[in-house]
Amino acid sequence: MGTNTRTGRKGTGPGAITPDGCAVELYTRLPAGAEPDIIAAAVPAGARILELGCGVGRMTHPLVAHGFTVTAVDESREMLDHVRGARTVHSSIELLDLGQQFDAVVLASFLVNTGDADERQALLRTCARHLAPGGRVLLQREGQGWHTNLPSERVDPAGFTVRMVSSDPVGDGVNSIYAEYEFPDATWTQTFLSRPLTDDQLDAALAQEGLAVDAYLTDDRTWVCARRAA
Ligand SMILES: C[S@@+](CC[C@H](N)C(=O)[O-])C[C@H]1O[C@@H](n2cnc3c(N)ncnc32)[C@H](O)[C@@H]1O
Repeated sequence: MGTNTRTGRKGTGPGAITPDGCAVELYTRLPAGAEPDIIAAAVPAGARILELGCGVGRMTHPLVAHGFTVTAVDESREMLDHVRGARTVHSSIELLDLGQQFDAVVLASFLVNTGDADERQALLRTCARHLAPGGRVLLQREGQGWHTNLPSERVDPAGFTVRMVSSDPVGDGVNSIYAEYEFPDATWTQTFLSRPLTDDQLDAALAQEGLAVDAYLTDDRTWVCARRAA
């Protein structure tokens, strides 16, 4: 894995920055949020989970504490160095082929909204390739209209501010998003390419890889459970 920045993605601020523009130290500071509980409620107790794009283990660690066996994958070794209690694999998601299948494959953090349609399909293909019979793919996608009416700002109770500063169309339905994370002692920024996915577009992308939506796990339909298409 090189340290090359992926097209259209960039990050600034202290410490190591991943190829997709994420700051490692920033992710060590972010609270886990509701995501691990959403995942835990959607998979059987003790399940073997493949977590794609695990970062520093923000979701991995609560999942391990829930009693799941987690294999955590990331293309950033600096991110993986923070992961505890799980098997770690240093790889791009697109090229991952562990020769093993899992009860659940998690593709969170809006990776499915990548601006590059070929990359999105490669991510979903990796999910399908590692799915055990009867298993589930758990996807987190962006909510509808998330990047309209910017700038917007949210002050987190943990003591930092997240600003979604701008969303600029760059063609073919893709937007370049610029975000800031401001802490009392440091500021990080991230620029990334985002392609909104309607229900129909997501259905079509999943179908290409032999998958189909089984359920929406949250009222805002951002968390999706998919299974092998019948
Ligand atoms: C936004 S961070 C989120 C990390 C973690 N899921 C969380 O919620 O804290 C995205 C992570 O996915 C990794 N990543 C993004 N695209 C990837 C790819 N195509 N292959 C492997 N890792 C990737 C990045 O290195 C980064 O650690």
